[in-house]
Amino acid sequence: MTSPSGADFVVVANRLPVDRVIHDDGTEDWRTSPGGLVTALEPVMRANDGAWVGWHGAPDEKLEPFVSDDLALVPVELSADEIAEYYEGFSNATLWPLYHDVVAHPEFHREWWETYKMINQRFADRAAAVANEGATVWIQDYQLSLAPKMLRELRPDLRIGYFLHIPFPPAELFRQLPWRSEILEGMLGADLVGFQLPGGANNFVELVRRMLRLSVHRHVVTMPDGREVRAQAYPISIDAQGFADLAATPQVRARAEEIRRDLGDPEHLVLGIDRLDYTKGLRQRLRAFGELIGEGSLSATDAVFLQVANPSRERVQEYRRLRDDIDMLVGRLNGNIGTIGHPPITYLHTSYPREEMAAMYVAADVMMVTPLRDGMNLVAKEFVACRDDNSGALVLSEFAGAARELKQAYLVNPYDINGLKAGLMRAINDTPAAKTKRMRAMRKQVFDHDIDHWASSFLADLERR
Ligand code: G6P
Repeated sequence: MTSPSGADFVVVANRLPVDRVIHDDGTEDWRTSPGGLVTALEPVMRANDGAWVGWHGAPDEKLEPFVSDDLALVPVELSADEIAEYYEGFSNATLWPLYHDVVAHPEFHREWWETYKMINQRFADRAAAVANEGATVWIQDYQLSLAPKMLRELRPDLRIGYFLHIPFPPAELFRQLPWRSEILEGMLGADLVGFQLPGGANNFVELVRRMLRLSVHRHVVTMPDGREVRAQAYPISIDAQGFADLAATPQVRARAEEIRRDLGDPEHLVLGIDRLDYTKGLRQRLRAFGELIGEGSLSATDAVFLQVANPSRERVQEYRRLRDDIDMLVGRLNGNIGTIGHPPITYLHTSYPREEMAAMYVAADVMMVTPLRDGMNLVAKEFVACRDDNSGALVLSEFAGAARELKQAYLVNPYDINGLKAGLMRAINDTPAAKTKRMRAMRKQVFDHDIDHWASSFLADLERR
C-alpha cells in the first residue's frame, strides 16, 4: 500500500474518485466512485506508487491525505466562497458555457478569475509536494487549466500531461475570454495536451499560433525556451467489458424486464439519461417526443419516454432555471398528450447506481443522446456496450464527440426538432436486421477503443515526450 507522501504517478483532478458513505452507526467511510477515469487509472496507480490529488466535494473541511481501497488520496480543501467562485463560478458559469458553444451565456467576473488562479495554484502546490523526482503528473479538465504551468514552475523535473474532457472551442468563441492568453499559457505548461477530438486540438494550436505567436509545426508547439508541447486528440471511452458483464448478470436482466413491466410494457421504450445540464438538449428532445405523440405518429399507449436527469451543479443559476423549465415542460406535455394511466413521459430527477443504469440500457428500445454540444458523451458508449444481442437503436447528436466514432448511430441535428422526430422514427421503424448491423459495428468500435486504450495511448505518448 502506498503512502500519499511520495508518488511516481500523480493524477490531479477537481474531484477525488471517492464518495463519502455514512454508516447507520454514524461512522464515515469512503467508497471509490464508479467513474471510468478511476477504473482506467487504478492499475497505473498501483503499478507506480500512484496518488490522486483532488477535492472531496464538501466545503470548509481540511482532510489529511488518506488511503481508500488501496488508492492514495490527497484532498484539496475548498471553502464555501472558493467553491462559489472557482467551481460554480469560473469553472461552471464561465468556462463551461463558453467551451460548449455558448449555449448559455458565459459570465465574466474578475473576482472569479482571481479565485480560479488561487485554487489552481493550490492544486499545483499539492501535486508538487506529493510527486517524486521525475514523476509523471496527469492533470484533468477545464477546472485546472492553469495548473500545468504552475506545476512546471515549481517542479521542472516532472513529466506533465493535461487532458481536457470537454470541447475546446473555436477562436471566435474563445477570444471572448478576458484571460484567454493566460489559459492557453497555463495548458502549455504540460508536455502533452490531450483533447477529445482533432478539432479541439486544431482550435488550440491555431489560437496558440495567433494569440501567443508561438511556432507550431504538426501540432507541436515550440515554447520560447525551446521546450516542445504536443497537442493531440485521445477520444475517451468506457470500461466496455465491465458494462457488458454487468448487463449480462441475471439481476440486471430481471430488473430490465421489471422496468418494462412497470412502464406498462410499451411497444417502444425510448430512454434518455443525462446530467441535468443545458448542454444536453433536453428541451428539444422532449418537445420532439411530445409532438410525435401529439400528432399521432406514436401512440401514448405504445410509446414511453423514460428520461433520467442526474442532479448537477444545483447552486448555479442556469442549472436551477433549467430544472424549472424541464419540470414545467414535462408537466405540460404529459398534461396535453397523456391518457389515464399513460403519461408518455416518465421523468426522474435523481442519480442511480451503475446496475440500475445498465438495467435501463438493456430495457430500452431506443436510446436518445442528443446534446447541443458534448465533449464525448459516455452514456452513448455505455448503452452500446450493454447491448450484447446487437438489438436496440442509438439516436445520437452530431454535436457529441461520440458521433465521430459511433457513425452507425441515427445521427441527428439536436436543434432541428423535425430532424429529431425523423431520427427517432427511423430508429423505431428500421428493420431489425438494419439495427443489428449498426449496433454490431458500434460495439466493435467501443470494445476496440475502451478506457484502457485511452489511458494507455495518452500515457505512452506522454512517456515519449
Ligand atoms: C463533466 C466534466 C467533469 C465533471 C463532470 C461532473 O464530465 O468534464 O470534469 O467532473 O462533468 O460535473 P461536476 O461539476 O459534478 O464535477
